Amino acid sequence: MLNKDVIIACDFSSRAQTLDFLDLFRLERKPFVKIGMELFYSEGPQIVRDIKSRGHKIFLDLKLHDIPNTVRKAMKVLSSLDVDMCNVHAAGTIEMMKAALEGLTREDGSRPLLIAVTQLTSTSEQRMREELLIGSDINSTIIHYATNTLKAGLDGVVCSPLEAAGVKGACGQGFLTVTPGIRFADSGSDDQVRITTPAKAREIGSDFIVVGRPVTAAADPVASYLRCVKEFLND
Ligand code: C5P
Repeated sequence: MLNKDVIIACDFSSRAQTLDFLDLFRLERKPFVKIGMELFYSEGPQIVRDIKSRGHKIFLDLKLHDIPNTVRKAMKVLSSLDVDMCNVHAAGTIEMMKAALEGLTREDGSRPLLIAVTQLTSTSEQRMREELLIGSDINSTIIHYATNTLKAGLDGVVCSPLEAAGVKGACGQGFLTVTPGIRFADSGSDDQVRITTPAKAREIGSDFIVVGRPVTAAADPVASYLRCVKEFLND
């Protein structure tokens, strides 16, 4: 699989809206798309099969976090859906991440990419300290969780593009960084705080950028997507 790409976050609530949006992309190479909890829980696994059958690669963003046995069995189901990338919370422990990897691996040894969420960007350092009782600073915690993810044998982490260099430094250049928080230099930031442009994300070392509203809410989504690809892949 191409290990550098732009992933469109399809944050729509219905099948009809999602497929209408994807119908716009009459391109030779269909975009890699991210399906999140809202769409998956409202439409069920069939939405994954439908989008896959149209030729898209899929990052199924369900962020699993449960006991290892449950995660192993759930991952087996996701693997049979033939998604290309899925994820867990690193907070579930190394044992849970290893179980996820086992569940995901098919009989022929193939499997989707598996990445972990370190600390959600919505969790502030203050909340981490006061509510989660994690005493380290947030950057050390992110690097520590990324190192645990590497130890468990996963492929990489979701992180802010601004954290990608630190993660690569600790876990190696081959460890994937999947980074949301992408905005064009000439557009607004919406509710995202720590943002970078597609070109800057490439420079910092992101492997996959996840782009939502700059594409989904654009007047011309296909043109915006192609601009992202051009800036990020430099082609
Ligand atoms: O519209 P926007 O480009 O902000 O969408 C970014 C996507 O990446 C959304 O689906 C959001 O849930 C997801 N995401 C994020 N920050 C994280 C993890 C995921 O923005 N830390």
